[in-house]
Amino acid sequence: MNKILVTGGCGYIGSHTIVELQQSGFEVVSIDDNSSSEPWIMERVQQITGIPCTNHAINLCDMPALRAFFEAQPDISGVIHFAAFKSVGESSKEPLKYFHNNLLGQMNLMRCVQDFKIPHFVFSSSCTVYGNPEQLPVTEESPMQEPESPYGRTKVIGEAMLRDFVKVVPAQVIALRYFNPVGAHPSNHIGEYILGVPSYLLPYITQTAIGKRKKLTVFGGDYPTRDGTCIRDYIHVCDVARAHVNAIQYLQRGAAPQAFEVFNLGSGLGQTVLEMIASFEKVTALRLNYEVGDRRAGDVVAVYANNRKAREVLGWELKFDLDAMMATSWAWEQRLAREHG
Ligand code: WQD
Repeated sequence: MNKILVTGGCGYIGSHTIVELQQSGFEVVSIDDNSSSEPWIMERVQQITGIPCTNHAINLCDMPALRAFFEAQPDISGVIHFAAFKSVGESSKEPLKYFHNNLLGQMNLMRCVQDFKIPHFVFSSSCTVYGNPEQLPVTEESPMQEPESPYGRTKVIGEAMLRDFVKVVPAQVIALRYFNPVGAHPSNHIGEYILGVPSYLLPYITQTAIGKRKKLTVFGGDYPTRDGTCIRDYIHVCDVARAHVNAIQYLQRGAAPQAFEVFNLGSGLGQTVLEMIASFEKVTALRLNYEVGDRRAGDVVAVYANNRKAREVLGWELKFDLDAMMATSWAWEQRLAREHG
């Protein structure tokens, strides 16, 4: 009951999750085709934990290769599925690319979970399923809304497929809805590795501070919030990662009353964009070059989590505050600049 498959293990949340799993005594094997990640991440994971983790460069859409992988690994007891495309903007331009990769990949994986009788499955979902919520904070019972992007739709459909799946397949599934994961491992060996121009706020802040970007544009200063900028729930990636260990342990204890359950993974706090900038400036003692510009299409005004269910049911503990999110993000950006320019 100790071997876990992580798909997308070289990615941002996947790599941090492998560290937490290994440090909790699990054996981990990874599948990642490195289409948007670097294979050397696995060496960094080993630097932190002292334990090797083999990555298999398989695309989940390649069913024969995936099946051969599972045939060679008969002792996998759980799957944590991260491997998916995640660029909201790109998904609006190329919806079929997202439907093909994210949905077909997930279906193939579910087919293997069924055929190889894997009892436990954890799915990466997103707060994007709540859209622009009427009531804050959002609980797991808050209504799901029409997704803003094809990417978001793959998460809504991904959850729905799993709900139907567990009605007929004896697997237990947890969907974890991430809010805004940020930060890097405190060892500074792994963090978010961004290809191209970042669309997410914190990498844009750190890339501006290091001089890779000229200026941060704050998308909209006229929202109905306390300072006119959007509110989000930022959560340290190591806290997000640890919740996956809690989820697998919960399933292994046989504690899940239902075959499909969802949990919010957020800090429970909402920060505005200007508060994020102020926090970054305080922690780093730097001044950030920014201006307030136009709104970005598709942005929700405010969303943050009620995280009580994950804390009470999974026993999840949050260990990192906003200062730690800023400090580890900045340390990681500096390391990237030293090593990759
Ligand atoms: C945060 C805030 C921006 C960049 C994304 C995905 C969503 C989900 C969560 C995965 C917003 C503002 C940003 C910039 C800015 N992910 N901002 N200037 O919008 O919550 O959503 O992460 O499932 O699907 O879309 O995150 O980091 O892009 O933006 O002012 O250059 O920062 O307007 O208010 P967001 P984000």
